[in-house]
Amino acid sequence: MAYTPKILAFAGSTRSESLNKKLIRVGAEAAREAGAEVTLIDLRDYPLPLYDGDLEARDGLPENGRKLKDLFLANDGLLISSPEYNNSFSAVFKNTIDWVSRPVEGYPPLECFTGKVAGLMSASPGYFGGMRGLFDVRKLLSMIAVDVLPDQVAVPKANTVFNDNGELTDEGIHKRVVALGARLTDTINKLKG
Ligand SMILES: Cc1cc2nc3c(=O)[nH]c(=O)nc-3n(C[C@H](O)[C@H](O)[C@H](O)COP(=O)(O)O)c2cc1C
Repeated sequence: MAYTPKILAFAGSTRSESLNKKLIRVGAEAAREAGAEVTLIDLRDYPLPLYDGDLEARDGLPENGRKLKDLFLANDGLLISSPEYNNSFSAVFKNTIDWVSRPVEGYPPLECFTGKVAGLMSASPGYFGGMRGLFDVRKLLSMIAVDVLPDQVAVPKANTVFNDNGELTDEGIHKRVVALGARLTDTINKLKG
């Protein structure tokens, strides 16, 4: 029987009108079309305190951190749309990764990241489409043993490319998102299938 790649998809923004949330929906659909089982989550549904070692020593990993850790563990790949804040990733994204990376009894260290394949996207109203932030996302994930695909999609002027239904109206960008979703699915298939 053919293997079905499992992908966890999320944006690094919690904002309700987030451009990256709009983009990740398109990317998630593209990966589904390519044959993946995609779990699309909104980090707003998994609020976490800012990482604090004292808090962790007292209470351990917060429940939402555990839920996210389980989601990372259960999936083969990650599809991420990361906003660019001051040329880097958002605090919400980094805080999520920091909590999920914490060791917990019964979970080998970093197992939830090791060997996962990641596809990266970003959306920004600016001219660079958030691509400068993706350098840091790429570095961060690579250093925790995620295999990050060389291809990525950065969407400039992203405030002009979605209609009121959240559909991506730029055909060229849409094609690139579809290609990324397919590449991610195909790469996982080759590694796992
Ligand atoms: C603190 C902060 C820093 C930002 N820095 C950048 C930046 O360096 N480059 C950029 O293109 N946009 C920057 N922006 C604008 C964001 O790209 C824009 O707010 C975008 O819509 C955020 O993503 P979201 O729509 O998914 O929430 C910044 C926004 C904030 C709030």
